[in-house]
Amino acid sequence: MASSHAAAAPFLLVLLLQLCSSGLALPSKFIDQTCPPERLPAVALLSNGGPFLCNPPAPRVPVAVFPHDVDPVQFALNLEYTEAEFFLHGAYGAGLDEAAPGLARGGPPPVGARKANLDEETRRVVSEFALQEVGHLRVIQQTVGGFPRPLLNLSADNFARVMDNAFGYRLNPPFDPYTNSLNFLLACYVIPYLGINGYVGTNPIIDGYKTKELVAGLLGVEAGQDAAFRTLLFRRRGEAVPPYNVTVAEFTDRVSALRNRLGRCGVKDEGLTVPRELGAEGAICTNVLSADRDSLSYSRTPAELLRILYLTGDEHVPGGFYPDGANGKIARSFLGKPRGANESPKN
Ligand SMILES: [Fe+2]
Repeated sequence: MASSHAAAAPFLLVLLLQLCSSGLALPSKFIDQTCPPERLPAVALLSNGGPFLCNPPAPRVPVAVFPHDVDPVQFALNLEYTEAEFFLHGAYGAGLDEAAPGLARGGPPPVGARKANLDEETRRVVSEFALQEVGHLRVIQQTVGGFPRPLLNLSADNFARVMDNAFGYRLNPPFDPYTNSLNFLLACYVIPYLGINGYVGTNPIIDGYKTKELVAGLLGVEAGQDAAFRTLLFRRRGEAVPPYNVTVAEFTDRVSALRNRLGRCGVKDEGLTVPRELGAEGAICTNVLSADRDSLSYSRTPAELLRILYLTGDEHVPGGFYPDGANGKIARSFLGKPRGANESPKN
């Protein structure tokens, strides 16, 4: 017995070290206790690559991260912090300060985020996405470094302001994202989509093989999250959102129109249904995914994203989700400048 324990000790130590180094040491409240103990065949077979070639070819330009990659990729942390805190609080009632406090880098806790009243399916989806955001924050910081979490306003009041702006009048009662699953999904419609736009915009201006791989991986999951939210909403597109006499489809259309207005760069955002000429190949009004005339994701610059996320239509005037402004060199470069001043060439 003693010898079998001794033989197992190095293995357990290696396992523990692997868990710690991969950053998966989450507090128990974030660990799903309902997962079956046995591994499913599909993943059990994949634990070792065996004799097959699994490595990609060597990069043509052997530079992992160029200096000019750093600021645009770091800028994405602003959106990732917002998603992480909104999803973590919505699903678990606790944010980054409990899940992975080091990733907040000493930034202030968010204002007004709380646990949402979610049905089981929505809670599971949001929980998964929340944990994915922890991974996104970690890998971005590991690859290009980071900055402290900015002050985030995730209060019901702020989301109510978004919806009031979208509709052009005050919803009565004010919109509350935390009150039920449908409202939370509508609030989720507001944020991750902008992550897609941002990553599409970042891709052409970075050159390192590591940063390009990172942005492609982030874009894939952000797009998947947005698609999942939009699909869940699309199934309910004809329902009126209680107690408002407005359908889910109209809510999405209004939010997309608001983002286009605030972004001030034309149509880069579409609701769940569109006029046929704006649908895929100008032939369909179903619009589960928002995309351009070639069915490619729209791109936005940091300046456009900040105009929208600040709810001011001006990247120089903070507000909305970032009362003190977003963080990082690019976002801070806009603050303190008069409107109309030349934008940083990195925007
Ligand atoms: Fe993310």
